[in-house]
Amino acid sequence: MRPALPEHGRPWAEIKDEMSGFSTNDVKWREGRHAFHVWYGGDDIFEVQRESYAMYMQENGGGAGKTFKSLKIMEDAVIDYAAGLLQGKTAVGHITSGGSESIFVALKAARDWARKHKPEITSPEVVIPFSGHPTFNRAAEYLGLTIVRVPVATDLRGDVPAMEAAITANTIALVGSAVCFPYGVVDPISDLSALAQRKNLWLHVDACIAGLQAPFARELGYEVPDFDFSLPGVSSISADMHKYGFGAKGSSLVLYANAELASFQPFNFYDWPLGQFSNPNVASTRPGGSIASSYAVMNYLGHDGYLALNKRLMNLRDEIMAGINAIPGLTINSTPHSLIISFGPSDQENVDGLAIYDEMAKRDWYLGRSYQPRGMMMGISLPHELSKAKLLADLAECTEQVIRTHQKSDPNAPLTY
Ligand SMILES: Cc1ncc(COP(=O)(O)O)c(C=O)c1O
Repeated sequence: MRPALPEHGRPWAEIKDEMSGFSTNDVKWREGRHAFHVWYGGDDIFEVQRESYAMYMQENGGGAGKTFKSLKIMEDAVIDYAAGLLQGKTAVGHITSGGSESIFVALKAARDWARKHKPEITSPEVVIPFSGHPTFNRAAEYLGLTIVRVPVATDLRGDVPAMEAAITANTIALVGSAVCFPYGVVDPISDLSALAQRKNLWLHVDACIAGLQAPFARELGYEVPDFDFSLPGVSSISADMHKYGFGAKGSSLVLYANAELASFQPFNFYDWPLGQFSNPNVASTRPGGSIASSYAVMNYLGHDGYLALNKRLMNLRDEIMAGINAIPGLTINSTPHSLIISFGPSDQENVDGLAIYDEMAKRDWYLGRSYQPRGMMMGISLPHELSKAKLLADLAECTEQVIRTHQKSDPNAPLTY
C-alpha cells in the first residue's frame, strides 16, 4: 500500500534522524567511492555553500533585478568573474540550474539566431563530436533540432575535418567540449572556431566540466588547448558552478560572446492577462540560493583559493594516473586536459574492460562505465585523496583477474550509472 500523508506532524529531530538513515545504501562519496555526481571541494566550501544558500533560499531568481535586486547584484558579479576567466571582454550571461539548462538555452539561442540570419533553413542541424553530452540530443528533441554526431579522432578529440564534412545546407551550429565527459579532453576548439567563422555557424563550447577549472590548470602549467572567448568564432559557453566551480547543486553559467547573441536566449510572451512575460531561463521560479552560493563560493575562494584547490586536485589526478599506468595491462585512454580520466585495458581486443568495471562495482566502486573504448572513467574530487591507494590496489587485482581468467563482462550486471 502506498503511504498516505501523515495525519499529524512529527518532531523535526525525529524526521531528521530518519532521513539520515535513508543514505545508508548511497555511494560512500565522502570516502571517495564515487566517480562523478559529487564534485567536492572540502568541508569549508560546503559550509559556505550551505549558509549562503540558506540566506537567500526564499528569494526567487525569477524576480532577479526586479523584486530581488540582491540576486541580480550577485548574478551579475558571478557572470563578470566567469567572463574574466573565459576571456569574454564583451560577454554577457546568466546563472542556470545546471549544465543541461545552460546547453538547452544556448541551443535555443542558436536556433533563434539562425531563424533570423538563415531563415531559409527549416530543418536545422547541429554538428557535434560523438563524445558530446547526451543533453544536446535531449535539448534538440525539445527544440526541433537534429543533432549530427561525428566519430572522434584517434586521440579521442573531435575530428574537425570529419565535422566539416558533416556540415550540410541545414547546419546552423557546431559544438565542441572543454572537456568532454567520457574522455576528459578539450576538442580542437580553435579549429572549430575557424570553421564556424568560415561557414557563418554558431559555435557552442560545452565547458560544463572545465570552464571554471581549466583556466587554473593552465595557470599551474598544465597544457590546456584554447577553448574560450579569446577564439573569435566562439558564440556561447556553458560552465558549471556545481562541478569544478564548487558551487551548490543547481548552479551553472551560460555566457555569450556579446549582447547581440545573448538576446536570442530569453523567452518573450505577451498574450495573457498580465502582459509582458520575459524570462531567460527554462524555469520561472529559480532558487535564489543557487545564485547566492555561487557568489559566496567565488568570493570565498578567490583566485588564489581556486588555484590552490586545483593544484591539490591536479596533483591527485597525476598520482592516480601514474598509478593506473603502472598496473600491467591497464592504460589511460587519452591525454586528459582536466580532472576527468578515462582508462581501460591497453589490449582492447583480448581484455574486456567492462569485466574490470564489473569487478570494481562488486567491490563498491561506482566508476563511470565506458563502452567506447571498453573500460571506465572518473572525475577526480578531494575525497579521492582518501581512497586512491585502495582504488589502485583494487584496480590492479581486478585487472589481473580479468586478464588471467579471460573474464567477460556480465551483460546482466546491475548498472551503477
Ligand atoms: C560535459 C558535460 N556537459 C553537460 C553536462 C550536464 O550537466 P548537468 O548534469 O549539470 O545538467 C555534464 C554532466 O556531467 C557534462 O559532463
